[in-house]
Amino acid sequence: MRIQTVGIIGAGTMGNGIAQACAVAGVKVVMVDISQAAVDKGLTTVGGSLDRLIKKEKLTAEQKTAALALIQGSTNYDDLKGAQLVIEAATENHALKLKILGQVDALLAPEVIIATNTSSISITKLAAATSRADRFIGMHFFNPVPMMALVELIRGYLTSDATHDAVKELAVRLGKSPITVKNAPGFVVNRILVPMINEAFFVLSEGIATAEDIDAGMKLGTNQPIGPLALADMIGLDVCLAVMEVYLEEYGDSKYRPCPLLKEMVAAGQLGRKTGQGVYTY
Ligand SMILES: NC(=O)c1ccc[n+]([C@@H]2O[C@H](COP(=O)([O-])OP(=O)(O)OC[C@H]3O[C@@H](n4cnc5c(N)ncnc54)[C@H](O)[C@@H]3O)[C@@H](O)[C@H]2O)c1
Repeated sequence: MRIQTVGIIGAGTMGNGIAQACAVAGVKVVMVDISQAAVDKGLTTVGGSLDRLIKKEKLTAEQKTAALALIQGSTNYDDLKGAQLVIEAATENHALKLKILGQVDALLAPEVIIATNTSSISITKLAAATSRADRFIGMHFFNPVPMMALVELIRGYLTSDATHDAVKELAVRLGKSPITVKNAPGFVVNRILVPMINEAFFVLSEGIATAEDIDAGMKLGTNQPIGPLALADMIGLDVCLAVMEVYLEEYGDSKYRPCPLLKEMVAAGQLGRKTGQGVYTY
C-alpha cells in the first residue's frame, strides 16, 4: 500500500514538524488538534519554518505555497477518514493516548495504519488499545522533524511486515533514514543517549573534570555536535531523570540508577535552559 494522505493527531512541536515533512514531500496531510487556536499555531509554525528554508535557499516560494496547500488543519477527527496512515503525536500522557487511540480506531477503516510518535510508552501496550495491533507501529521522529534525518520504526509484538514496509517506504519518501527497532524502553537512540548523559553527571560529580572539559572532550573526541551536559540542559534535567527512572524500573538493572547529582539538581529546580540554570547558567 502506498500512503498518499497522512492524518496527524496533535499540531504541537512534533505534529506540525511531521506535517511539514510530509507536505514538502508532496504527501497530503490532515492535522487535527483540540482547539482552532492550537491548529492555527501549528500552521503558523510550519509557515515560519518554510520561510526560513526559503531564506537559506533550500526551498522556493512556489514550493512553500504548494506545501501549505497540502495541509488541512481541523478540530474534527472525522476529517482523518481519508488517510491511509494516522500518526498520533499528541501530548505524552498514557491515559490520553489510550483515549485518542480508542477513538480513532473506532472511526477509521480497518485497513488504515495507526502509528504513534510516543517517546516512552510501550508500542505493544498502545497497540492493544486498538483492534488492529498488526496495523499499529511506532514512528519516532526527532526534533526538529524537518531537519532530523532519523525515524525509529518501532515494531510492537504484533506489528505486521506489511505495516512496517508501508511506513518505511513513506519515511524514505519524506527524505528520512529509518531504522527498525523492537519495542523496548527508550528504543535505540534514547536508550544509549540518556544513560550517557547520566554518566556525564557521575563524571562531573566525582570531580574527574569540569563541565566545560567533559563537554569539550565528548565533542572533540567523539564528534558529537554538543556535549552531554549542555544537551541535558537543552532536554531538561527533569526529563533526563524521569527517563532514567523508567529504565531502572522497566529493566530492573542497577546500571540505570540516576546519578545523585542529577537528582539533587532536579530537586533544587535547576532544570537547564528552561529555568535559566542547569549545569550552565543562561
Ligand atoms: N518534543 C520532542 O522533542 C519529541 C521528540 C520525539 C517524540 N516526541 C513525542 O511526540 C509527542 C508530541 O510531543 P510534542 O513535543 O509535539 O508535544 P506538544 O505539547 O508540543 O504538542 C502536543 C499537542 O497535542 C495536542 N493534543 C492534546 N490532546 C489532544 C487530543 N485529544 N487530540 C488532538 N490533539 C491533542 C495539544 O493541544 C498539543 O498541541 C509526544 O508523545 C512526545 O513524547 C517529542
